[in-house]
Amino acid sequence: MSAPMDWLGLGGKTCVITGAGGGIGRALAINFAKAGAHVGLLDLSEADAQATAREVADCARARTAVVACDVSNPDSVAHAAAAIESALGRCDILVNNAALLRPGALDTLSFAEWNALLSVNLTGYFLCSQAFGAQIRGKDAGAIVHVASISGSNPQGASGAYSVSKAGILMLSRQIAVEWGPSGLRSNVVSPGLVETPMSRAFYDAPGVREKRSAVVPMRRIAQPQDIADAALFLASARASYINGEEVLVDGGYAGMLMNMIPRPGYD
Ligand SMILES: NC(=O)c1ccc[n+]([C@@H]2O[C@H](COP(=O)([O-])OP(=O)(O)OC[C@H]3O[C@@H](n4cnc5c(N)ncnc54)[C@H](O)[C@@H]3O)[C@@H](O)[C@H]2O)c1
Repeated sequence: MSAPMDWLGLGGKTCVITGAGGGIGRALAINFAKAGAHVGLLDLSEADAQATAREVADCARARTAVVACDVSNPDSVAHAAAAIESALGRCDILVNNAALLRPGALDTLSFAEWNALLSVNLTGYFLCSQAFGAQIRGKDAGAIVHVASISGSNPQGASGAYSVSKAGILMLSRQIAVEWGPSGLRSNVVSPGLVETPMSRAFYDAPGVREKRSAVVPMRRIAQPQDIADAALFLASARASYINGEEVLVDGGYAGMLMNMIPRPGYD
């Protein structure tokens, strides 16, 4: 038996993606467009978001709108929300995805570096949730999906404010789920593990790193952006209509490897 045409219930919905010019953002845009949604593409880099719009046009008949937006700036986010509403109608689904990764040890991390990362990775998620959430709550049902990271639950040295920002997103999402659930808005998190995108490409360009990283993941491979986008599509869809305040790990099982790191003579 074949699936109904709009099994995901996303046909004609307006879906806004932040960081839409990046690796995971582009896969998200293509996924939602193929599912029949109109896509609003926000990015600091208008050129990269335009490139995503061209890829969307190559594979789907979706209406698209590109808006240059700095998610850490309240005026820029307010402008983007108004621009999307006038181009595509009120938002039904927001995917908070735009983020930075910057190295830094806590003993030397500057006040400016700390604030710069949190203002995008955490405050940006809050500002977009507030601005687009107001549009979503005017509808019968809608969703926000936040792209966090397994680093939100697992500290990693020299990562500056990155892991802290991702931990904050986990609670932001749960708080939204509680506060806005009564108005039909669901809020959930997708936490990727190791993914190959422009953000992480330098790691994989270093000799031997891909093999070493793949070896510690139970699935024995690095995720592609599509792996993350598929989980986000499900959480945003009507097929997840009673899932609210949850986190889905998309890490090939890597976060479960802690006990495997213990040397156990006779068991290895
Ligand atoms: N790549 C990985 O291994 C990995 C792992 C875990 C989680 N993640 C998360 O996935 C999400 C997407 O990351 P990616 O790997 O696709 O990165 P990416 O660098 O390819 O894309 C990020 C996008 O965000 C945009 N951006 C940055 N600052 C912005 C701002 N102030 N306003 C608007 N847009 C801004 C960038 O221009 C870029 O297009 C991020 O939240 C990241 O933390 C990535």
